[in-house]
Amino acid sequence: MYIDLRSDTVTHPTPEMREAMYRAEVGDDVYGEDPTINRLQELAAAMTGKEAALFVPTGTMGNAIAQLTHAGRGQAVIVGDQSHIYHYEAGGASTLGGSPMYVVPTLPDGMLDMAALLGAIADESDEHTAATALICIENSHNRCGGTVLSQEQVASMAALAIPMASPSTWMVPASSMRPPRWGFLSANWYRMLIR
Ligand SMILES: Cc1ncc(COP(=O)(O)O)c(C=O)c1O
Repeated sequence: MYIDLRSDTVTHPTPEMREAMYRAEVGDDVYGEDPTINRLQELAAAMTGKEAALFVPTGTMGNAIAQLTHAGRGQAVIVGDQSHIYHYEAGGASTLGGSPMYVVPTLPDGMLDMAALLGAIADESDEHTAATALICIENSHNRCGGTVLSQEQVASMAALAIPMASPSTWMVPASSMRPPRWGFLSANWYRMLIR
């Protein structure tokens, strides 16, 4: 049997998946009347310990929304130099949101270089500098061969952070600059909110 491992995007739905799609209850999502979408969002919110979740159809869209939500115009976003956000998403945070991307080295296991990360975080004390609003980490990591960050690795980056009111394993604040507001999870990667 030939198995095509070029990408998850080359996979096809199984007959059972097609059947589930065919039988799915549908409705008007604008009015919040799509029961399948509603159940999916409720499940995602429950799994992540958040008040609510929003279904978006692509990872790039989710990443763009997350970055524009958490980093305002002129506020910096820190990303790994091997991250999908940096390489493959048309610079969304910068082109759509006006947020400069500050790039730090990604280690072979998908982890960010901690020393570089610490050095890249900027507060608002110098008006010449775009203050850091967001650190993006990727888990599992596309360009690092699907490597998975352990909770310990995520926690070591979270050691930079102030404690959250309601911490969850999928969301880590990463700075003591300002209290975090909320987190965002999209598919297989984590984001860390630090403003
Ligand atoms: C880590 C990561 N982020 C984002 C994406 C983009 O997802 P989409 O193709 O759904 O926009 C991918 C796709 O492979 C990915 O691996």
